[in-house]
Amino acid sequence: MRVCVVGTGYVGLVTGAALASLGNSVICIDRDEEKIANLKTGNIPFYEKGLEGLVTKNLSARRLSFTTNLATGVTSSDVIFIAVGTPLRPTGGADLSQIISVTKDLVKVMAGYKIIVVKSTVPVGTSELILDIFAREGRAEGEDFDMVFNPEFLREGDALYDFFHPTRIVIGSNNERAGQKVAELFKPLIKKPEEPGIIFTTIANAKMIKYAANTFLASRISFINEIANICERVGADVREVAKGLGYDRRLGNGYLSAGIGFGGPCLTKDLKALIKMAQDHGYEPYHLKSILEKNEHQVREVVRKIKEAMGGTLYNKRIGILGLAFKAETSDVRNSNALRIIELLKDQGATIRAYDPLAMPEAKRILLSVEYARDAYSAAEGSNALVILTDWDEFKDLDLGRIKKLLATPIIIDGRNIYEPDKMAEMGFNYRGVGRQSPEANLAKGGRRTLPKTGR
Ligand code: UDX
Repeated sequence: MRVCVVGTGYVGLVTGAALASLGNSVICIDRDEEKIANLKTGNIPFYEKGLEGLVTKNLSARRLSFTTNLATGVTSSDVIFIAVGTPLRPTGGADLSQIISVTKDLVKVMAGYKIIVVKSTVPVGTSELILDIFAREGRAEGEDFDMVFNPEFLREGDALYDFFHPTRIVIGSNNERAGQKVAELFKPLIKKPEEPGIIFTTIANAKMIKYAANTFLASRISFINEIANICERVGADVREVAKGLGYDRRLGNGYLSAGIGFGGPCLTKDLKALIKMAQDHGYEPYHLKSILEKNEHQVREVVRKIKEAMGGTLYNKRIGILGLAFKAETSDVRNSNALRIIELLKDQGATIRAYDPLAMPEAKRILLSVEYARDAYSAAEGSNALVILTDWDEFKDLDLGRIKKLLATPIIIDGRNIYEPDKMAEMGFNYRGVGRQSPEANLAKGGRRTLPKTGR
């Protein structure tokens, strides 16, 4: 199929390159000339596992091309994907200015029937806005164009895996034929006829599926963090509790890792946008608001824990930080709770020496007055505590004996539960995870060194 993708951000580029590799002829469009010039030579403006290779391969096979010229892309395509950003407005709702501007430009250059597929996450009601722009230019729905909403469920770092192994494909449209045509693009991904399902539904339902999915993930994370904090206080271990929960087929085991709270470009943004959408419709979404509040509370809980381990004050303490990205396998620091935690530590007088395998260049643009270390060991050297804020594999394989010698005081606060409390205590660390029972902390409270074995 001949496809064009407007917007070469994260979603647009992954979608374009992946559709090309399925054999379609794909033109990716962006108004940023420098970005397009770089993409033409296979230079990707962000890190995503496997994407550079996929882009280069499809560029050489001439299935993928890049241009700043919207008319070129639109004229030679049957299906037009819109994958521009919908950032959060300061008032909390989604900023639709990019969607509006692309639609206006599109209407001007469109000739012949086109299927417009909206990939960007947009509030219910946006379709009316788009339809109105088409109507004002005399373009009739069903004749000149049809609109389809096809949300993405791509995780950063695993985006290509998620594209090629979808859990479901959601197609929202008022026109069955247009929906079927878009579904054709994704059919090669379906190995068994019923698995994964293609869900044909209304545009409003498709949009709500996307918001509900991200909000539910956020809800699970806030929930397990709440449980973790209670576990710590009552002598339970959140890992065991999460395992016990996950075996329940009705619940499943995803998104039950306790930690420093969720971050990244999507979960917070979509949660806030859904809250605003509900409020705009006269409904106060108490549960959704509490998911957000819990996420902010988790950040403060981690800071409280660090402070407690350091004897109640952070003033003039040097803290080594491992991890700045909002999760492993990405250089993205948008809404990263690691950065929030660092700011709060600095506010209380701590000095920071941070390391991240990929995210330091992006963090440097936002986080000032922080020393950046060349590796994890250098972040630990001379620090009064080491704090793990991103779950990079690299941190799981550190030489902890060396880390202990380098630290001024052997305190490790593990915001991602990458180590085992018993082993860390055996090595002589004052170690605290999230929702885990640390023998050291237990001893300080007059408790036992080893955990009683439960349920066995
Ligand atoms: C998310 C959705 O997963 C994806 O389907 C959607 O389309 C885009 O938004 P992403 O933002 O890449 O993807 O991040 P994700 O992997 O979902 O993680 C979000 C945050 O939650 C990260 O900060 C991560 O560290 C945290 N997290 C995740 C936890 O704290 N615990 C968990 O159990 C899972």
